[in-house]
This record gives sequence, structure tokens and C-alpha cells, in this order.
Amino acid sequence: MFYELAAPTWGPEEIDAAKRVIESTFTTMGAEVKAFETEFAAYFGAKHGIMVNSGSSANLIATAALCFKTERPLARGDEVIVPVLSWATTYHPLQQYGLKLRFVDIALETLNMDVAQLEAALTPATRAIVAVSILGNPAALDVIRAFADRHGLYLIEDNCESMDAELGGKKCGTFGHLNTFSFFFSHHISTMEGGIVLTDDDELAHLCRSLRAHGWTRDLPPDSPVYSRKSADHYEAYRFILPGYNVRPLEIEAAIGRQQLKKLAGFTAVRRRNLALFQSLFQGDERFIIQRENGKSSAFSFTIILNPARNPDRNAVFVALTEADIGYRIITGGNFLRHDVLKFYDYDVVGGAAPNADIAHDYGFFVGNHPFDLEPQIRRLHDVLTTVCK
Ligand SMILES: Cc1ncc(COP(=O)(O)O)c(C=O)c1O
Repeated sequence: MFYELAAPTWGPEEIDAAKRVIESTFTTMGAEVKAFETEFAAYFGAKHGIMVNSGSSANLIATAALCFKTERPLARGDEVIVPVLSWATTYHPLQQYGLKLRFVDIALETLNMDVAQLEAALTPATRAIVAVSILGNPAALDVIRAFADRHGLYLIEDNCESMDAELGGKKCGTFGHLNTFSFFFSHHISTMEGGIVLTDDDELAHLCRSLRAHGWTRDLPPDSPVYSRKSADHYEAYRFILPGYNVRPLEIEAAIGRQQLKKLAGFTAVRRRNLALFQSLFQGDERFIIQRENGKSSAFSFTIILNPARNPDRNAVFVALTEADIGYRIITGGNFLRHDVLKFYDYDVVGGAAPNADIAHDYGFFVGNHPFDLEPQIRRLHDVLTTVCK
């Protein structure tokens, strides 16, 4: 394809690392995972990293950890403020733990939660916020964290789309009590499938470690804040303290992740150069609404919303893109309120509607960005769009 939505980012280093793991025959969670967790957490200045098999699983154990905290755990019926535009597995763990979602519309220019609605979203039952930075662009995480602190709320930062983005000199994925990342194929770095939770909180980290692996104690030190070793007897290796999962990552994923992490800063620099070209071509053209950067985007991809005021024909645009061999897709998961799964949710919508998410859903799409030069692709995209959108 001339301009792909997703592209491989591995070189010989990743292939060699994978081969080494296979040849070692030690393939399930072990030394590579531990090393990757340490290196990834260090890159972000976090105290703990807990790797899992996907970003979705990272959201799952992050949510679960808050429900099993000793003090002030989340309980069924508690409310969580969430943006209305994100990926489905930002929300599903909240539903699975009996929490009520308070959906907040997005700001159309950034595609992130409209923080002007935070006060209206707050009720006496509010206990947490999940903040999401869409497609590389930092959400107003500084504002959201300050709001959470003011009101004693937990903050989960779902940073699965914005690895290496920055706000006020601080990396996204460091603003929450728990912060999640994805290493899926199309993301900033890829381990095939994979994810991680970062936290500075010892108790939450230990809860996540146990929840990741069956809810047992085996991966916890004897002085853990969530478990005290009772004896040295035969059963200790199979002691279960939490209703956990098996969402462990593989050694091969971590070994590849270690190689990818070394390249992350370079990848981000190239992605940002592509973004600068994209912005220079599209910014200020009233036919298109492109994402306004808040802080420094890590440029996962390029979003385009056809200006609804001009009554655009998105299908005609899609036909033209297909003919030009340019991949495109819906922005993240679109307006989550429009998905059938919502019938299983306990939720309400702040202000009763999400008109901006509807605009993104009905008039928006994104095209890929990759850690290599995309000048010909971006220029062709611009030619196609400016021809079809007269
Ligand atoms: C915001 C967000 N959260 C969570 C996920 C889930 O990550 P994964 O695909 O690794 O399960 C994604 C996936 O792209 C995402 O965009």
C-alpha cells in the first residue's frame, strides 16, 4: 500500500532478541520481563512497572487494583469520570467492576476530554477519573490531576495511544496514580501484543503484580504491603490473595520491547517531523479540522475532521483515499455512546449529549504516522483531500 495505517518498526535487533529467547527455551515471564519493566519505568521516571499481555489488560489490572486497595478502595456504584471518545477497553474494566461511568464530551480541537465540564461531572459519588490522551496528543492532564487531587479522586491515565508525549516538560503516562501503555503492533513501540502499568505507589504495584498472575503471592517479596508471609511451608508458593487473572506477558515480547525502547526517542523525533509537515499543509485550511497540540504530541497518527459547516461528503473522501491507496479509519473508537455494548453499562452523560464526539464520529477519520519519512505520502494525502473537498 502507498500509505499504510500501520507499519512495522522492527530491525535486525528485535529479530535477534526474539531468536535468543526462543533458543534459550525460557519463554514464559522471567528475566527479560523484569529487565524491560525496570528499563521502561526508568525511561518515564516511575518507581514500578508491571508488564502485561496488552494495554487492555493494563487497564483491567489498574482498575482492579483500585478496587482491592486496603484504604478507600473503589466500590460498586462509585462513579468514574471518563471522556466519551476512547477505545472500548478503556471503559470495559470499569463496567466489569460495577462502577458507574460519567461520560464527558471532548473538545473538538484536541479530541481530548473537555475539562471545562469537570465541575459539572462531579457528584458526591465520584471517586475516580480515567484520562486519555488521544492519538499522541496530551489531554489536559495537569488540569485533570489538580482537579483529582482537590477532590480526593484516583486518576488512571490510559496512555495507550500517547507514549512519549509531553505536557509541561513531563511525560504523559506519569500524571496518574496508575498509568497504562500499549505495545500493540501499530503503536509507538511494538512487542506484537503487550502493555504495562506504571505507578509510584507500592501497594498498587504489588496489587497489580498479584492480579497479573492468578492473584497469587509468588511474585511478591515477603515484606509486601499487600501480604505477609505466614510460614515457609509447602503451600506458600500457591497462596492466592486476590481474584486475579493470568495476563502475563511473554519473554519474547519483553526482549523485543527492550530493543524497541532504545529506539523510542528517535522514533518520536521522526514522527514529530512528519507531524510538522502535516500541520504546515493542513493548518488554517477551513475545510479541515486537525488536532491542535496540547504540549508536545508524540504523533501517533494524523486526524482530520471534515468541517461540518461545509456539509462535506465523507464517503466521497473515503472513495478518493481508497483510489489513492491511502489507508484511513475511524478516530480511535469514535463516540463510545454509539456502541451497542453500552446497554450493559451503568452510565450517564454530563450535559445529556456529546455533540463534539458526534462530529468526530460522523466527519472524522485518521491516517497513519510512522517513524520514517512520510513526505511523499503526506503530500499525496493533501493533494487528494484538497481536490475532493473543493
Ligand atoms: C486508549 C486505548 N486504551 C487501551 C487500548 C488497548 O490496548 P491493546 O490493544 O494493547 O489492548 C487502546 C488500543 O489501541 C487504546 O487506544
